[in-house]
Amino acid sequence: MRIGTPLTKGATRVMLLGSGELGKEVAIELQRYGAEVIAVDRYANAPAQQVAHRSYVIQMTDGAALRALIEKERPHLIVPEIEAIATDELAKIEAEGLAEVIPTARAAQLTMNREGIRRLAAEELGLPTSPYAFAASADELKAGAAKVGFPCFVKPVMSSSGKGQSYVENEGGVQAAWDYAMSAGRVERQLVIVEGRIDFDYEITQLTVRARGASGEIETQFCDPVGHVQVKGDYVESWQPQAMSPKALFRARDIAKKVTDALGGRGIFGVELFVKGDDVWFSEVSPRPHDTGLVTLVSQFQSEFALHARAILGLPVSTKLLAPGASAVIYGGLEEKAIAFEGLDRALAVPGSEVRLFGKPESFQRRRMGVALARGADTGEARGRAREAAACVKPVSGK
Ligand SMILES: Nc1ncnc2c1ncn2[C@@H]1O[C@H](COP(=O)(O)OP(=O)(O)OP(=O)(O)O)[C@@H](O)[C@H]1O
Ligand SMILES: [Mg+2]
Repeated sequence: MRIGTPLTKGATRVMLLGSGELGKEVAIELQRYGAEVIAVDRYANAPAQQVAHRSYVIQMTDGAALRALIEKERPHLIVPEIEAIATDELAKIEAEGLAEVIPTARAAQLTMNREGIRRLAAEELGLPTSPYAFAASADELKAGAAKVGFPCFVKPVMSSSGKGQSYVENEGGVQAAWDYAMSAGRVERQLVIVEGRIDFDYEITQLTVRARGASGEIETQFCDPVGHVQVKGDYVESWQPQAMSPKALFRARDIAKKVTDALGGRGIFGVELFVKGDDVWFSEVSPRPHDTGLVTLVSQFQSEFALHARAILGLPVSTKLLAPGASAVIYGGLEEKAIAFEGLDRALAVPGSEVRLFGKPESFQRRRMGVALARGADTGEARGRAREAAACVKPVSGK
């Protein structure tokens, strides 16, 4: 494994497509190993751009713009951090041998669309999932909802972080769910998935890393399960390890192995699973670091970001737990540019705590602006500390 000197002709160049808080941590880890990092986003001064060697603002769904930038920068590795990318262009770029897409262009294509990943998981791999149907009109949605049963979830096939999602309790809510999905979907395509609700005891992210092992072959390793709480499709709190029955843990990892094998390549994956007793259902997967995995910044020797950086550079990894940990999201609470934060001192006085402020140039009420992290003797203590630290950090007007 050979790494060049950044900012010279021999540099190992890595281009991040998406430069949010997860990309920022990946950029930092990559730089620790001497990679040259190019951070791309749709707006200026995004978190990862603030720690990258160079940055660009382009519309990443624009295939021509994406190709032009890649031809100009000639990265060795292209690392998607978000779903909304012209993944068909990435597939061409990968096929031409212009750059390697992490983990693979096909993984990015399949996971940017709920239809692709759901059909792969349920229909090709035969994994347990919620009952589901796809619908391209309000009438089709009515039929689909009747088929999967109420209550159900309606989601645009192209959307993330809960955008355009509805929880529908009965037939009366179907039309509103359709209208809402249409107003918030990412692309013009009118397609939604309707999923029957899984009445789970808890949900986890099974962080799974595919990295080159001592033999030179790609090996799969699992982190301890991350438990989390979601509000309106957005995570507010996570912890590691989530206690699970041996059977449920075995099933979770079996599902994670099958999905990540099918997607291939190197890097970290966040496999989202629902658990009830010993039963486990596949929900979805991110072929990249997962937001709920922010907890690993304090709970693992190598965070999910370090694991990703190491795996994609072809380096060995360890998924060993360091200590029980937790994360609690810090929201903007304000609609304003250039806000400020007070109370960081108090937050960091909480035993075992850490805080990351992402440096996003503009705050929204429910925008994730930072995260509080904490270790503890157990996840209960860690969660209490993370929540306490998060509550100390107060977003205030920067004017
Ligand atoms: N079929 C389902 N049964 C039960 N709960 C569900 C179901 N689908 C979604 N949820 C709940 O809603 C959350 C968000 O759903 P999902 O992960 O599909 O959305 P998302 O927009 O991709 O969110 P993110 O991008 O944050 O992962 C889930 O973590 C879960 O708490
Ligand atoms: Mg999800």
